[in-house]
Amino acid sequence: MKLGVCYYPEQWPESQWPTDAEQMAALGIKVVRVGEFSWSRIESERGRYSWEWLDRAIELLAAQGLKVVLGTPTATPPKWLVDECPDILAVDKLGHARKFGSRRHYCFSSQRYRDECRQIVSVMVQRYGNNPAVIAWQTDNEFGCHLTTVSYSKNAVSAFRRWLQQKYISIDRLNEAWGTVFWSQEYQTFEQVDPPAATVTEANPAHRLDYRRFASDEVVSFNKLQVDILKHYAPQADVIHNFMGFFTEFDHHAVGRDLDISSWDSYPLGFLDQGWFSDEEKIAYLRQGHPDFAAFHHDLYRGCSKGRMWVMEQQPGPVNWAPHNPAPLPGMVRTWTWEAFAHGAEVVSYFRWRQAPFAQEQMHAGLNLPNGEQDIAAFEATQVAQEIEQYSPAILNETKVASSPVALVFTYESEWITEIQPQGKNFSCFEFNYACYTALRELGLDVDIVSADATLDAYALIVCPCIPHVSSVLHATLSKLQQPVLFGMRTGSKTESFQIPAELPPGPLSSLIPITIERVESLRPGAKEGVSYNNSAYQVERWLEWVDSSLTPLASTGDGKGIWFNDKNVHYLATWPDKELLREVIRRVSKQAGLLTEILPEGIRTRCFGAAKFIFNYNSHAVTLRDTQQRKFILGSSEIPAGGLAIIELK
Ligand code: GLA
Repeated sequence: MKLGVCYYPEQWPESQWPTDAEQMAALGIKVVRVGEFSWSRIESERGRYSWEWLDRAIELLAAQGLKVVLGTPTATPPKWLVDECPDILAVDKLGHARKFGSRRHYCFSSQRYRDECRQIVSVMVQRYGNNPAVIAWQTDNEFGCHLTTVSYSKNAVSAFRRWLQQKYISIDRLNEAWGTVFWSQEYQTFEQVDPPAATVTEANPAHRLDYRRFASDEVVSFNKLQVDILKHYAPQADVIHNFMGFFTEFDHHAVGRDLDISSWDSYPLGFLDQGWFSDEEKIAYLRQGHPDFAAFHHDLYRGCSKGRMWVMEQQPGPVNWAPHNPAPLPGMVRTWTWEAFAHGAEVVSYFRWRQAPFAQEQMHAGLNLPNGEQDIAAFEATQVAQEIEQYSPAILNETKVASSPVALVFTYESEWITEIQPQGKNFSCFEFNYACYTALRELGLDVDIVSADATLDAYALIVCPCIPHVSSVLHATLSKLQQPVLFGMRTGSKTESFQIPAELPPGPLSSLIPITIERVESLRPGAKEGVSYNNSAYQVERWLEWVDSSLTPLASTGDGKGIWFNDKNVHYLATWPDKELLREVIRRVSKQAGLLTEILPEGIRTRCFGAAKFIFNYNSHAVTLRDTQQRKFILGSSEIPAGGLAIIELK
């Protein structure tokens, strides 16, 4: 459990660097990320490198015992490069180039840009790859941020056609898979296939899905080319990327497989404000963030790179990019930090050491004010550093992260499919995954979020909230399981090529549970159906499947439509249940899995890690925990302050 910070020496007078390094070490910082936006400073014109400043900065940090994460600077190609090779720019769906002047102005499919990246990364890692202070490399920065995953450039078009040829071999197979006989879309050659953009009305869904898969694969290969170079020249260093919150534009499991560590940038307040949450939730959690936001992403990204996860950027105060940017509750930065450690983060690094007084992010807080005075987060980070020293032996007296009893299976492709064909304007696969995660966490259950390729044997309960295309690998894994598996709506409803399965939905799942989905309907906001279960009344919304089955449903709508079916260990939920019903479903399948659950008080979350149980209070008021008198507190007490935490010894 270490603290880190994001630092931009190139943005400050060099006279300030020694003090910065001393103050970081004094605070308890152990890891410092530098360099990810420094290309124009490293190479002011082609082949004219100035490394000395970076040499000195790394030296100063190392002299204070600080370890360095070096960022490859490929998220911000310099102006001279853009002027020399304008075709490195991405193009939007209307054909407009994404211009120089901010960041991420490149196209993943530009072979020229890939060559330029190979060059700068090679030169950089040959200079610093053996520097003992440089313990890790971050590839680029936040792939896809600012909606830059998908490009419609000429490079992307030709790369897409090659991708299609590799996948379908013959154009007839593509026509068959896409159903291009519909609306006279049939192709004679791959060269005829354009990106699904600027069409009169919606383009072919299979075409759109393949374009999303192609764009995602481009991110994977773009990252991999850097990983290969870094591993070649710095085999002892870890390679990391920093993913984002609420971001599904590419397959993070696929990118994570090529990384040693998946890190992410945690801005709970920014994502609450711009997220799908109700106004009530946005007010209730205004300065804390949603109780599951950070934990969900810790668990999601821990599942991307063999269990290794960092927080590369932790919100320290008001950000500048959300519609509204409040300050965290006092103590919240400390709580977010401890929550990351409780979910297995090796490092929590704050963004950024000092607030910049200029340019696009001058309104974004740091650990320090622009004039160098400590800001609020610096005091909280200092406290955490001291607490790590004091309490980590008690917390970490087991060497491994406590294993979670529940696996939530999430695939990025599922989100793409339901974005392409929502069928209901208010349907969101990702949001329902999050709702299932919340239901599990409100019952005190720890969760691993895993990919469709994961091994599931060791879990007591498997939850598949919404996986329209169930791959043959996942189907084979699920077919062997004896433990309870809960499937959510639309799971199994599409083939790999975005068609309705010949056997009707749930497609391959019909071998696991004898149901057939004969009709689906989507309901506008406010339209709900009453459901009775266990002699109690609930409601369902947004989505309703008409199910034919010999099974007697566990729950049905008022007019007798079954919405929850169970056969042996398999459960299928044919609707979007309200919070209360979803909690009852999770309680029942958890019970069947032999898992103890408890309904936690509103806004309270727990997580077991090592030999400890962390308790987090996401309310803006203090909470007094019941039945903890016989528990030994490692940190805090049963009276948890607003936005605070307590740590108790696991029984
Ligand atoms: C992202 C980026 C950072 C910075 C922060 C601001 O995480 O990685 O460079 O822009 O957002 O919150």
